[in-house]
Amino acid sequence: MSVSPAVAGRTVLIAGATSTAGLAVASSLSDAGARVIAVGSNLARLQSVLQVAPEAAVFECDLADFDAVTALAAQVSALHGPIDGLIHLVGGWRGGGGLAGQTDEDWDFLHAHVISTLRNTTRAFNADLLASSAGRLAIVSSVSVDNPTAGGANYAAAKSAAETWVRAIGHGFAKAAVPAAAVIFVVRSLAGLEGELAGRVVGLWTEAEASAHDARVVLEPGPADNAAGGTPSRRTQ
Ligand SMILES: NC(=O)c1ccc[n+]([C@@H]2O[C@H](COP(=O)([O-])OP(=O)(O)OC[C@H]3O[C@@H](n4cnc5c(N)ncnc54)[C@H](OP(=O)(O)O)[C@@H]3O)[C@@H](O)[C@H]2O)c1
Repeated sequence: MSVSPAVAGRTVLIAGATSTAGLAVASSLSDAGARVIAVGSNLARLQSVLQVAPEAAVFECDLADFDAVTALAAQVSALHGPIDGLIHLVGGWRGGGGLAGQTDEDWDFLHAHVISTLRNTTRAFNADLLASSAGRLAIVSSVSVDNPTAGGANYAAAKSAAETWVRAIGHGFAKAAVPAAAVIFVVRSLAGLEGELAGRVVGLWTEAEASAHDARVVLEPGPADNAAGGTPSRRTQ
């Protein structure tokens, strides 16, 4: 275990911590010495986080419900103090069938998972990120924002909204003249890139992204075909 002085001792909340990516991020943050707060909608599934990050604190919360997120923020603050990082990983995909297939049901799902959970968590924890000596917000977006398709219109529109929301938060950080950063990681698929993502999340406290109030970083599979932590990335703004 190598402890990174930059992230060691910082408190980082993972919103949506039980997916393969969430577990990789929790494990890397924990190994680097961060205090991990893992949040998901199901307490039983959250137990998997404790297998990779035994000292993590786990909280069951429906992040699509703002009142529940407000209560979560109060509970986290009382038990663990303010957070330094918010890593938002709630997502999911719905789509297909051309534009005719862009149903209201799918839009409602994407709106709740991709947009509402992001709005709710950032609104509830923004004061913490502003007050931190190194506040960090990160989301994982999709290349479909740059190249939307008819069959993925709902998804690309939701992800575009999420990116815009994060850039707005970055503007707020800049306007407040605080050393906080809002970072958008962009992938085609996360499969095989979970280790790369986890390393980049730990690096938010040491790498170039931290020097700007907002950044958009494309993560791409490298020649080693998804070797953890060994893939290149491309900064687009
Ligand atoms: N997978 C890909 O190939 C891909 C591609 C492009 C972008 N992305 C983005 O990358 C991020 C991570 O992707 P992923 O595939 O790991 O995501 P995912 O499989 O959708 O995982 C979502 C996580 O959020 C939790 N969650 C779902 N609804 C919740 C709610 N209402 N309240 C609290 N927690 C909730 C889930 O756990 P519980 O069900 O236990 O609550 C799970 O831990 C997402 O933003 C996704 O859109 C992924």
